[in-house]
Amino acid sequence: LFSAVEMAPRDPILGLNEQFAADTNPNKVNLGVGVYFDENGKLPLLQCVQAAEKALMDSPKPRGYLPIDGIAAYDNAVKKLVFGAESDVYKAGRIATVQGLGGTGGLKIGADFLRHLNPNAKVLISDPSWENHRALFTQAGFKVETYRYYNAGTRSLDFDGMLADLKAAAPGTVVVLHACCHNPTGYDITPAQWDQVIEVVKAGQLTPFLDMAYQGFANGIAEDGAVVGKFVATGMDFLVSTSFSKSFSLYGERVGALSVVCASKEEAAKVLSQLKIMIRTNYSNPPTHGGAVVALVLEDDKLRAQWEQELGAMRTRIKAMRQKLVEGLKAAGVKQDMGFITTQIGMFSYSGLSKDQMVRLRNEFGVYGTDSGRMCVAALNDKNIDYVCASIAKVM
Ligand code: LMR
Repeated sequence: LFSAVEMAPRDPILGLNEQFAADTNPNKVNLGVGVYFDENGKLPLLQCVQAAEKALMDSPKPRGYLPIDGIAAYDNAVKKLVFGAESDVYKAGRIATVQGLGGTGGLKIGADFLRHLNPNAKVLISDPSWENHRALFTQAGFKVETYRYYNAGTRSLDFDGMLADLKAAAPGTVVVLHACCHNPTGYDITPAQWDQVIEVVKAGQLTPFLDMAYQGFANGIAEDGAVVGKFVATGMDFLVSTSFSKSFSLYGERVGALSVVCASKEEAAKVLSQLKIMIRTNYSNPPTHGGAVVALVLEDDKLRAQWEQELGAMRTRIKAMRQKLVEGLKAAGVKQDMGFITTQIGMFSYSGLSKDQMVRLRNEFGVYGTDSGRMCVAALNDKNIDYVCASIAKVM
């Protein structure tokens, strides 16, 4: 039965974790996956999460099945966070939100739903994009193409190219847009450019699918989520996948959501009923713990404030490490101006290094980034940065 099955390549991101774990180099540094590590190189367990977990443990609950769409209080908290409790769409009940298994889970529920709705639609992702976008939408049955986004030659956005490609897309095309902290490039379009993109998307009757996995890592929760409000203001129907993996440092809990903005409350109820079929036939219903923690933090004023403060500290530390990386590379002898690292935003730096250089970094120095040249700045600290800079300098 399985004799014709071929060995698949490693996952371009998570596959690096496997390789890293097996690496015996004592100096190894994992800048591959998008995970924040603190100044001591430790994966943080946020204070707000610990407080919520303590509260949950103080009155332990049995673990029955959750509803297919997840914890009601969680879904509601996600709506308020992403769209605002005062927004018309929220108040009018026009949003269908389901708890998902991380941001990836939210994307997949949305992809499966859209594929049933419009099987002939194409999907456009940015060039480059998070590697899993292409794989995920392809697995859902879509033909996936790209819109221009980044010009490697000039190390800047190709905004004209982006607009032109979106303008050329057929009505109904699903356009995957990074709401903030573009992965992998770290270059976001400006609010004024978003207005232009939204105009084109609306005029072309495209279907926007926002991926918001890094809310809070650019400038703050409200600032980074502002693009959602821009889409709401147009009256368009759209989808948003959100994740708490990074912002709550709850990677392994797989806490995320999919929200679908609909034209009316009645439509939202119908959409929700269809999303539930996608979930039921995939994994039935989500797990209990992560969603309960996040709901508790978001709904409690004190814990919510603590979360925003802790998230802010992560954001600030990443920015400081960007600066240190630029200085460190210069000190290590890199002649090229690496100042672009501080204009990039979010967890990643798109270094411009070639695949060969990234492979050398991995094999000779135990410094792991993706083949595309992406490095996770959020995993740098004062103890590993000199080694990382020296290693990069040697391959450049
Ligand atoms: C990443 O891009 O490294 C993260 O989003 C983790 C993942 O699932 O790929």
